[in-house]
Amino acid sequence: NVLVKDLYTTNEGQKQHQIQISGWIRTIRSSKKIAFLEVNDGSYIRNIQVIAKASQLENFTEITKLSIASAVTISGELVPTPEAPQPFELQAQTITTAGVAANDYPLQKKQHSWEYLRTIAHLRPRTNTFYAVFKIRSQAAFAIHEYLQHHDFVYVNTPIITSSDTEGAGEMFRVTTLDPNDPPKTADKKLDFNQDFFGQETNLTVSGQLPVEAFAMAFRNVYTFGPTFRAEDSHTKRHAAEFWMIEPEMSFVNLVDILDVSESLLKYVIEYLLQHASADLQFLNDNVDDQLLARLQATLQNSFARITYTEAIERLQAAPVDFKFPVAWGIDLKAEHEQYLAEEIFKRPVFVTDYPRGIKAFYMRDNDDQRTVAAADLLVPRIGELIGGSEREERTDVLAAKMKEFGLPQSEYEWYLDLRRYGAAKHGGFGIGFERLLMYVTGMDNIRDVIPFPRIQGNIQF
Ligand code: 4AD
Ligand code: MG
Repeated sequence: NVLVKDLYTTNEGQKQHQIQISGWIRTIRSSKKIAFLEVNDGSYIRNIQVIAKASQLENFTEITKLSIASAVTISGELVPTPEAPQPFELQAQTITTAGVAANDYPLQKKQHSWEYLRTIAHLRPRTNTFYAVFKIRSQAAFAIHEYLQHHDFVYVNTPIITSSDTEGAGEMFRVTTLDPNDPPKTADKKLDFNQDFFGQETNLTVSGQLPVEAFAMAFRNVYTFGPTFRAEDSHTKRHAAEFWMIEPEMSFVNLVDILDVSESLLKYVIEYLLQHASADLQFLNDNVDDQLLARLQATLQNSFARITYTEAIERLQAAPVDFKFPVAWGIDLKAEHEQYLAEEIFKRPVFVTDYPRGIKAFYMRDNDDQRTVAAADLLVPRIGELIGGSEREERTDVLAAKMKEFGLPQSEYEWYLDLRRYGAAKHGGFGIGFERLLMYVTGMDNIRDVIPFPRIQGNIQF
């Protein structure tokens, strides 16, 4: 068997020769004597056109009756067709059917709405758009690992079940066992199901940052890349209850280093995709967002803007717009403000730094002005906040006082204070929302359409 990808991307597709492929029928048109099948073999976004002739195939009539999605194996002659829209066609000598699809297959050739496709999340990867999106998802993950590993970052797997609320926002999913009064029959008898399994309250993690900080004090540069969970009450196109986050953490750095690394990592991912996912990006540019490629190129060419929160507030106050939510120093920037900064004022990604300490997490390092913290959010056009990061408070006494001020129980964070007590380096890092990055690099407009099986408030399929 050959892969269709190799026919398109190497000179294999320019030679007339005998091949065999296996794939799924995407379209089929037939007359009495001849049938044209578009077959996709999963290796590439583009199909191969197959010509089936009644004079050649014993099972010609059976083939013409196959419905879309049927799985087939085809042997025949690959013939280059330089004048045609597709560069080659396969003249079938035998076609065997592996799996015949029922004829009520829901994906017909017409364009379906995103809403409808979400209701068939198990079938939508078979459409070109979702093929491109999920191929890019895989390649973007690879590029992120590649960049970080090449820069000597150590990949650390942090826990999914946790007892701490890293972001201090109280937006966590509780983890419990089954009904304590009706334990599963196979349960270990020693476990007391009248208590929680862990003997204390546990949650799904909202971020791997605190545990990965422990590893930063041993390996210097580390990262997590895993699922995180937030029970946020936000019905937006940018929030999911389950999403993946990349969290690099570095020792001996300041905020400028953190911004430099995050900018360079994002640009690397975009460059990697332009090189390795060009057919998928081209498809999305042609069919989903005609500004996509231009925007990605521009992102590479310009450096990201950098302004302080205080400057951002001044720029917003000077703007000739009535925001729904009034702008004043101290507010948490809302989506409308973030969009205005990235889309209208800067027209490119912009880091906003040095936020008021009261609206940010307890672990962020206090600046000397006592009002702000050494933190940054990256705001990008179309998406809003893509990255959140900061220097971490490494001074034991300042951190302990801040935890008290923010109402955190110190007893549960003794281990975190230990990281300061025992040789704290100045350190910091950032978190990239993987799905928001994917929205940026695919042009998709809704986070539900870059997650294979999205988990959204009020809506879970399986
Ligand atoms: O800004 P956040 O909350 O930062 C942290 O969790 C830090 N611990 C990161 C760090 O410094 N190591 O989240 C980071 C990013 C956001 O900028 C956003 O892109 C994404 O995670 N994010 C979400 N993505 C999808 N759905 C949600 N509900 C998200 N919440 C945050
Ligand atoms: Mg944030």
